[in-house]
Amino acid sequence: MIYLAEKLSRELADPSVHNPRKGVAFCGATTRDLLALTVTPDAPAPDKTSIAPLYNIREFQKYNVPAVITTDDGSYGFKGYVTEAFERYLDRWITDQADRQKTVIYTCGPEGMMKTVAQIAIRRNIACQVCVERAMACGMGTCQSCCIRVKKDDPSSVPLKGSDWCYRLACTDGPVFQAEKLLW
Ligand code: FES
Repeated sequence: MIYLAEKLSRELADPSVHNPRKGVAFCGATTRDLLALTVTPDAPAPDKTSIAPLYNIREFQKYNVPAVITTDDGSYGFKGYVTEAFERYLDRWITDQADRQKTVIYTCGPEGMMKTVAQIAIRRNIACQVCVERAMACGMGTCQSCCIRVKKDDPSSVPLKGSDWCYRLACTDGPVFQAEKLLW
């Protein structure tokens, strides 16, 4: 996600890019201590019900990407799951079809959270890319420990000819998949 933020900031700085994309990072943790990012020391403490993006995470701030921080226990930022804050944000600011078509959601983290993000995106017809988490023993397509079920475009194609799904390997076919393809 930090790499993505860097790419977006390069687009914004490049005059040859028409309509550069802007990002908002949603960062959730169980408690503030478990947030794997740096809260800027001078950041104002966000309200426990606020979903307003702020420049309060150093890793994203340096690329001009504002963030919404959530903690399950309310020890910092929005109190609740990151998916709740995210859904509220979409319902408030990404409401019409034109905005939805221009939006892309990228998600990484715990599988349960990513499944919810994928459902949120699919329900609203917003493109979503999921960076899946699998146990990876070899990382090079040999051990098959990282397989994940995905939908096939053409059931007559191999592998599993005649089936509308097949296994793919997170390490070599992914780890990023389109949300609507994943059968988890
Ligand atoms: S990690 Fe071994 S096949 Fe993917």
